Amino acid sequence: MGSRESIGIGLMGLGVIGGAVAKVLTEKADALAAEAGCVLRLRKVLEKDLAKTRASKMDPDLFTADAAEVLGDPEIDIVIEALGGDRPAYDFIKEAIAKGKCVVTANKEVMAKHGPEFLSLAKEKGVDILYEASVGGGIPLIAAFKQDLLANDISAIHAIINGTTNYILTRMASEGLDFAIALEEAQKLGYAEADPTNDIEGIDPSYKLTILAMLAFHVLVRPEDVYHEGISRLSSRDFRYARELGYEIKLLAIAKEKDDSIEVRVHPVFLPKDLLLAKVDGVYNAVQVEGDLVGRVLFYGQGAGPSATSSAVIADIINLAQRINLGVNITHELKLNPSKRLKPISEIETRYYLRMSTVDRPGVLAKISRILGDLGISISSVIQRESDVSADVAEIVLMTYPAQESAMQKAMAEIERLDVVREISNFVRVED
Ligand SMILES: NC(=O)c1ccc[n+]([C@@H]2O[C@H](COP(=O)([O-])OP(=O)(O)OC[C@H]3O[C@@H](n4cnc5c(N)ncnc54)[C@H](OP(=O)(O)O)[C@@H]3O)[C@@H](O)[C@H]2O)c1
Repeated sequence: MGSRESIGIGLMGLGVIGGAVAKVLTEKADALAAEAGCVLRLRKVLEKDLAKTRASKMDPDLFTADAAEVLGDPEIDIVIEALGGDRPAYDFIKEAIAKGKCVVTANKEVMAKHGPEFLSLAKEKGVDILYEASVGGGIPLIAAFKQDLLANDISAIHAIINGTTNYILTRMASEGLDFAIALEEAQKLGYAEADPTNDIEGIDPSYKLTILAMLAFHVLVRPEDVYHEGISRLSSRDFRYARELGYEIKLLAIAKEKDDSIEVRVHPVFLPKDLLLAKVDGVYNAVQVEGDLVGRVLFYGQGAGPSATSSAVIADIINLAQRINLGVNITHELKLNPSKRLKPISEIETRYYLRMSTVDRPGVLAKISRILGDLGISISSVIQRESDVSADVAEIVLMTYPAQESAMQKAMAEIERLDVVREISNFVRVED
């Protein structure tokens, strides 16, 4: 039995996630109290939008538009940050921890940018910050790295952690849609925001990969360390060739360790179509982890949405409430190993798919092969098609054997300078 009758909760933000969390706290109050060992009492809700507070049907006295009323309330033990973005979330979280409160956040951006700072401040203050919902929505991931996978040396993470782009890619693959049409459809269905930049340019998954890579590989990663490319360069032609060659195209977040050197990157990849990850479609997320003891494990589920995400937020609240109730202070520290280094993208080694438009003449392929050969890049297969006889244009698609990125970039620059090459239409890395 714990010592507390209730634990005070302050909620910052009554949007999609904050609203869902408040609803679960109310509707499942008894069951949650049984799990936590005491009542979870919502004491204050920060929300500046009066329409939202009125629509919520919650006690109007709970609401405030002044963050100081939440952060300065001595009855509040746990602050839930559900505002999103960097500022003011960063300031509020720091202040909450400095005042000795525990924090739960669903905010990947603020955790990717400032997680290590929050965690060391929390340790100093004997409190904790939990962030299960920041990656993969309702999929239990962070706790798995902090606890269940601890005995392992993790060698690789391959993750589909952006539902918006996975939906768009699924529609492009299954219906042959162009990128712009698939994006418009995703926006109409509410899967993509009006400004979709963070998703389609791979920024959102690079925040999430920053968080996972720090936990898995014990290396300090900042969001700007993650190489990222989006999906807007992909065309329906790439999907047709991928299918012909036995692949699906996915936006993958990849982190791998070899010899104390860690690569962290987010970009579209060709994935062999029989892999489980290649079959993850629509808005679903999946994270595949490889550990020396456990082998390959796959976490799969809804990576967003109010209900699934509230599952992770509420679990974090219960976890903290149990600890507060029992009077145990255990901050989970990020154990960072300074001897590990991050590998720049130029040093990675992978296979490549290359699609280019050339003049339709004999000898073109020989010129391209010579450039690749001189840089140590071997071709594993070629598809050559006449795409427009009247315009004298052909399309050549190449797959290479593993090659270093720097050599591949140099080869592409030289190929593009050939007078017989109109353009390199696209290139995609292959993840076998
Ligand atoms: N939506 C998901 O499926 C999902 C899944 C996983 C994680 N997350 C994360 O959860 C967090 C919240 O996302 P969300 O989808 O719930 O966003 P949202 O619907 O935009 O909710 C944010 C709420 O916070 C309020 N707010 C923002 N700044 C404020 C301030 N300074 N003072 C008072 N209120 C403020 C906003 O009010 P106004 O609208 O009036 O500005 C809005 O009601 C984000 O970090 C997001 O990445 C979301």
